[in-house]
Amino acid sequence: MDDFHPDDDKDIICGCSGTTVGHVKKLIDKGVADLERISRATGACSGCGGCEPEILALLAEYPPSHP
Ligand code: FES
Repeated sequence: MDDFHPDDDKDIICGCSGTTVGHVKKLIDKGVADLERISRATGACSGCGGCEPEILALLAEYPPSHP
């Protein structure tokens, strides 16, 4: 799988569901900050599962620092 770019909100993080980096960041901002809930909200990781490491990396890199 291609490297995703955590700073590019338009970058597709999950090709199966078409989920973008920006969409996942918005969810994280809203407190939806774990893989299972992100998956449920976007459909990411419900296909091939190949995006799981990318989503985990984004969660690590873009932590929910907003209380
Ligand atoms: S790329 Fe996300 S489930 Fe396939």
